Amino acid sequence: MALQEIQERNPSSSPMLLAALYIAQERYGYLSGEAMQYVAHQLGISFKAVYSSASFYSLFRMKPVGEYIIQVCEGLSCFLNGGAERLVDYLKGKLGIEVGETTPDGKFTLEVVQCLASCGTSPTMRINDELYENLTKERVNAILKQLAEG
Ligand code: FES
Repeated sequence: MALQEIQERNPSSSPMLLAALYIAQERYGYLSGEAMQYVAHQLGISFKAVYSSASFYSLFRMKPVGEYIIQVCEGLSCFLNGGAERLVDYLKGKLGIEVGETTPDGKFTLEVVQCLASCGTSPTMRINDELYENLTKERVNAILKQLAEG
């Protein structure tokens, strides 16, 4: 079985492909068709194989995102401590967007994720690479204000 055939049957079979997609996303913010075409060309595999992996893993984004990606934890501990739904609803109202959308100014994208591995300090959210814990509406307001001004 040829390498390309293996990759097309099992998108998770190529660590090199996943690394290339990760690097492309880090560089461009998301995986455009052009970026996936470039990865396919560089690795000598089909666009279908690249698209298949990119769309399979939730780690990869297929559309542009905001400068700040807000990921609210909807895991059980956060849910029980008043996070998840309450925080998501609050952020939706505050930012004027739904989950999966980006504010018109391109500043914030809102997402929900599963456990951020900080259950003891729930509710939590991550913004880009930074974790925010023990959240309250007041704390969320202060964080958003700081980011909007920064
Ligand atoms: S459930 Fe939210 S950090 Fe674990």
